[in-house]
Amino acid sequence: MTTDLYQAPAKLSRKNLKQGATSVDVPRNTINPIDRTGQKSTESRGLFNSKIGFVLAAVGSAVGLGNVWRFPYFAATYGGGTFLFAYLLIALLFGTCLLVAEITIGRMTGAGPLQAFRKLDKRFAWVGMLALITPAIIFPFYSVIGGWVARYSFVFLTGGAAGAAETGAFAAFTSQTWSPILWLGIFIVMCAALLAQGIRKGVERINLVAMPVFIVMMMGLAIYTLTLPGAGEGVRHFLLPNFNELSLNTFIAATRQSFFSLSLAGGVMVAYGSYLKKDASIEKAAVQIAAFDTSASLIAGFLVIPAVVVVAGIDGLGQGAGLLFATLPAVFYAMPGGAVVGAIFFTLMLAAAVTSGISLMEVVVTTVTDRTRLSRPQAAWTVAVGSFLAALPVTLGMGMWSHVRLGGRDILGMMNFLTDTVFMPLVGLGTVLLIGWGIGPKRIIEAVEASGRKFRLAGLFTVLIKWVGPLLLSGLVVTSFLMAFGVITL
Ligand code: PFF
Repeated sequence: MTTDLYQAPAKLSRKNLKQGATSVDVPRNTINPIDRTGQKSTESRGLFNSKIGFVLAAVGSAVGLGNVWRFPYFAATYGGGTFLFAYLLIALLFGTCLLVAEITIGRMTGAGPLQAFRKLDKRFAWVGMLALITPAIIFPFYSVIGGWVARYSFVFLTGGAAGAAETGAFAAFTSQTWSPILWLGIFIVMCAALLAQGIRKGVERINLVAMPVFIVMMMGLAIYTLTLPGAGEGVRHFLLPNFNELSLNTFIAATRQSFFSLSLAGGVMVAYGSYLKKDASIEKAAVQIAAFDTSASLIAGFLVIPAVVVVAGIDGLGQGAGLLFATLPAVFYAMPGGAVVGAIFFTLMLAAAVTSGISLMEVVVTTVTDRTRLSRPQAAWTVAVGSFLAALPVTLGMGMWSHVRLGGRDILGMMNFLTDTVFMPLVGLGTVLLIGWGIGPKRIIEAVEASGRKFRLAGLFTVLIKWVGPLLLSGLVVTSFLMAFGVITL
């Protein structure tokens, strides 16, 4: 992994911090231009203090529940190999270009999303607003699922594998009232506690150890699963495309998933980019992030989809969001040493979820510390309480409030739909319009090349950002609205 991406910021004195220091009070490094908006500078945000820094933090944000929980169920729901084909195309080409775009916007402006878009072009200030609202909506429902992972990790660690493996155990758990609320609270407290300490202490240490171990472990588990009788059918479903089934819906699902998985259109990569030093190669970083994240999803697909087919047959793939939790415990329980393996798996998955959760929270917390006199810990705990309250209806919607339907969806489904098909595509659309037609792709290309390296994908970048992006994303936004108003069903 690259080690040249980060320049350690000068330390901020305690006194400055206490007094709510602004960029004028602290020593500046060369990362950020002077911020005339009154936003605190890089140093006072306290991010990334190790050599591995940026790529690791960005990968930590990207790899999470989106890869292990969401990717397999999206693949299972939207046509297996057909979805995979569309996903690879969109994530690796368009996703990588958008990563470059967002990171560069952050680095050019030295600001989080709220200021960054406004600084580049006032007409696009709304994109920054939406990019801030998006993680504020995702984090609460992400925490509900993070809570499920925390609970499974605890159950396996305390010898409860047999109970977790029983049919119906997952639904029985999520439909309870207090237990999921407790685990949701635990997940949010974990994220807030690490954020309050400052990113450098908490997240980097977790990322450095947990990410590689998690990937290796998933690979081992996938190999084990592939040896089980019946796994072949699952692999075929996951890999083999049926081009007759390739539809607009496949591409919409693939775009939604790639945004979520690569942490795009939620302000995270803009915010992280604002901490990146000038001579770092953004292109190289973006390719590494996309490659790592896509590999994690592929491995999760090879693990979860065959496992589901082994345990529940091919029809088991229709379970939607519960796919991972309803069937994987049974696989662990059936395998030799499975209780231990399950405990390690869910604990590492929890670490991956926490590092992503932190990045979602970070965008909101940074904005709060930039714009108010609250200290970082105060801001982190304030955002934590707000998110917990916002998450309550989501978890209750799985049980006590399961009769509540919003546009035909439960509350979790609705929040997912809102961010996935309305907010993120709108932020993505705003971003490609800003670059393609507002400031022009040239400005971004020059900013990428400010590192002294040529931007090799510049041609592809221009075409994708200027033409493909606006078409794809406006298509997505229009279809979502038509779907929301019941004009079409996909
Ligand atoms: N990329 C994260 C995952 O795959 O779990 C989730 C996520 C993080 C989505 C940050 C959006 C975001 F802005």
